Amino acid sequence: MKYFIETYGCQMNVYDSELISTILKEDGYEEAENISEAEIFFVNTCAVRENATERVINKLRQHNMYKRKGRMKIMGVLGCMPQHDNDMLKERLPFVDIFAGPDSYRRLPELIKKAINHKRNEFEEDIIHDKTENYDQIFPSRKEGTNAFIAITRGCNNFCTYCVVPYTRGRERSRDIDSILEEVNETIDMGFTEITLLGQNVNSYVSGEYNFPKLLKRISEVNGVRRLRFATSHPKDLDDELIEVIAEKNNICNNFHIPFQSGSNKILRDMNRGYTIENYLDKIDKLKNAIPGITLTTDIIIGFPGETDEDFQKTLDVVGSVGYDNAFTFIYSERKNTAAERRFPDNVPKEIKAERMQKLTEVQKNIGLSKLREDIGKVKEVLVESKSKKREWQLKGRTEENRIVIFDGRFGIRSGDYVNVRIKDAEGITLFGELIDIE
Ligand code: SAH
Ligand code: SF4
Ligand code: F3S
Repeated sequence: MKYFIETYGCQMNVYDSELISTILKEDGYEEAENISEAEIFFVNTCAVRENATERVINKLRQHNMYKRKGRMKIMGVLGCMPQHDNDMLKERLPFVDIFAGPDSYRRLPELIKKAINHKRNEFEEDIIHDKTENYDQIFPSRKEGTNAFIAITRGCNNFCTYCVVPYTRGRERSRDIDSILEEVNETIDMGFTEITLLGQNVNSYVSGEYNFPKLLKRISEVNGVRRLRFATSHPKDLDDELIEVIAEKNNICNNFHIPFQSGSNKILRDMNRGYTIENYLDKIDKLKNAIPGITLTTDIIIGFPGETDEDFQKTLDVVGSVGYDNAFTFIYSERKNTAAERRFPDNVPKEIKAERMQKLTEVQKNIGLSKLREDIGKVKEVLVESKSKKREWQLKGRTEENRIVIFDGRFGIRSGDYVNVRIKDAEGITLFGELIDIE
């Protein structure tokens, strides 16, 4: 039978879909090229914000036509949505055959076999948390591309008050170093040169004598690892040892995604983030001093309960003073069963949230562009990823600092190549350049 997986949410979900692919292939299933060919359809979901949830529900209702047409036999909802609120899903999606959470993927072949014999409106549900499930020894079926994700931790213990992840993903556990190294070697053998280590909070990795800086250093010393990245870093656990390792090792990319969420200490406290904005800015200064040319990106939440104009102004001040390449900005979305839902009424009016969002986006847009413009005139090493979407003859790649570069291609250049590009212009979050030479 052929399966097709559609993936929403964070990079961890992309990685998990690759794991699921391996699990299904090992049981004899084959990947379909597109949904219309699939007999089994899975959607791997995200519950972090309300609008993500609604999008998936609408998509599934549309996709139900493939089941009505007869080819598709099984439809399954996987990942964080069933783990977060399966009662709601079961009620709203009566045509779904399988609901399974992030710790249940090893059992998918079993669930499929049971579901095949179901009558109308019967379903299989497996949303049991497993504190030990690391999917060790299941190596993801990676799609073509230039970057390989490798999960080093799963789950989260931070309990930021607004966030569902500790509930959907369960307690934090770190993967064994040997299993990680085995996967690193495997991806290098497959031809990948760029690796991104994944975890909700990579900084709290611990396995035997290895903490995150030691793990990072160890992986950077593996032959063939040309670019090493990681996400996400929690500010409270970012320490000098990590900064030293990044500064010391050339192949650890000079780019940091370091969410601050809010510039107001009152809001940070209510979010249970575990740092003050002064702590955060201190660490940013250290990063900038130790690693010249480092680029930074962040996540920000607007309209958390109780956020005043003054609190919001503090967020704008941080954006103004740090100088991020890019900021992922989200309007607060109240999530069922979180501490924020219990403790704080969602009391910032919609219009004010939207107004603040617009203001923040505008401020960041200008700052991001001025950061990008610093590269104009420089020659940057670019890892070629793909053709540009807009123009057939152009290629898209990334600098070490994770900036996107578009340039005219030349015969013989392929994805995975490293080329030198002279930067000529910047627009939005994209650099434009001219190819200089090929390695
Ligand atoms: N583990 C990562 C990110 C997890 S979710 C970290 O801690 O950095 C990605 C981002 O979604 C968060 O950084 C936060 O900015 C946003 N987010 C999480 N829950 C949210 C909610 N309830 N409403 C709005 N944004 C949210
Ligand atoms: Fe959610 Fe906070 Fe954990 Fe990130 S660190 S996943 S925001 S609880
Ligand atoms: Fe979403 Fe789950 Fe990732 S809630 S952000 S897919 S961990």
